[in-house]
Amino acid sequence: MRARDFTDLAVPGVRGLTPYTPGKPMAELEREYGVRDSIKLASNENPLGASPLALEAARRSLAEVGLYPDGNGFELKAALAARHDVTPDCITLGNGSNEVLVFLAQAFLQPGLEAVFSQYAFAVYPIVCQMVGAQARVAPALSPDHPMPLGHDLRALYQAVGPETRMVFVANPNNPTGTWLDGHRLKDFVASLPPQVICVIDEAYTEYADSDRLGDASTWLAELPNLVVTRTFSKAYGLAGLRVGYALSNPGVADLLNRVRPPFNVSVPALAAARAALDDHAFIERSRAVNRAGLAQLTEGCRALGLDVVPSAGNFVLVGFDGASAAVHEALLRAGIIVRPVASYGLERFLRITVGTEAQNRRLLAGLADALGLS
Ligand SMILES: Cc1ncc(COP(=O)(O)O)c(C=O)c1O
Repeated sequence: MRARDFTDLAVPGVRGLTPYTPGKPMAELEREYGVRDSIKLASNENPLGASPLALEAARRSLAEVGLYPDGNGFELKAALAARHDVTPDCITLGNGSNEVLVFLAQAFLQPGLEAVFSQYAFAVYPIVCQMVGAQARVAPALSPDHPMPLGHDLRALYQAVGPETRMVFVANPNNPTGTWLDGHRLKDFVASLPPQVICVIDEAYTEYADSDRLGDASTWLAELPNLVVTRTFSKAYGLAGLRVGYALSNPGVADLLNRVRPPFNVSVPALAAARAALDDHAFIERSRAVNRAGLAQLTEGCRALGLDVVPSAGNFVLVGFDGASAAVHEALLRAGIIVRPVASYGLERFLRITVGTEAQNRRLLAGLADALGLS
């Protein structure tokens, strides 16, 4: 097709946008590097796959895919409402929680308005902000010497809030750092924000975290009207490929989010699988146990290789090398191991590694030792 540059036709926010870079797919690595039996520890997926109950429900739902899905997600919302002790009108379903972040930007941000988030916060916050032409205000992260290195600094976030700020994004725990905030302090922070500022607490990894330390922001909704909590079925529930996430909020906020939500944004199999996954407590418990053991295995293994490991409450670790991590990344790819470079976050010295099965973690640690010339 004839090449033509359409950039000038794009709206200003889109013109300068750099798209989100996903983890490299295994098939692509195998094609490009001629390797086999590759493993992917790059996208914070569940190494156990999906809940068997969810898979069975998705399979059964295929009989209905000739029809559009329930546009209001009645059954899934009813189950989520019961789970979180809220009414269904507090819920907005998304095609992954990523889509809910887009709805939030579309509903509440525009040129002239600002959103605040921390340095090293999840990459999608600046993208959704820029997409709608809003200004991002980035608060400096905690220093590398802090006990929660590179983590969110609530004081800095508070100081970054100005008269034009309409939204603050906080990931707890955060990706790619794995760092977390104490629940009590975070709740006080949300309560301290001016009433025109919506605080989005992104709990994508909350099932893996210790709820005694991080709290459960969904239980604060009744007290904090400007709070939005986002959750996903992509991580501990193992349904990343089906794309289901949701926001819990005040019904007034949910009404606005649902106005921008496209009709039928969550598919028939995704609704069925998510509904079934919610009740598979045994699967979540197993996922948590595998993650707990794997996190310890990776943390201890990396530290034994002399590497820096940022403490993590998620299903991944941020690992720091002496110099730039690009050569190690490349050596791992050649060994058929995909991890995530984080140079786009300004973290050139680090790689983010998803917790895998015991065998995958062992292979990763051996690959790291080889790449560092320590084996
Ligand atoms: C902190 C955080 N929030 C949201 C998401 C979006 O996930 P999904 O759209 O699959 O729900 C991710 C995915 O990696 C994430 O790390």
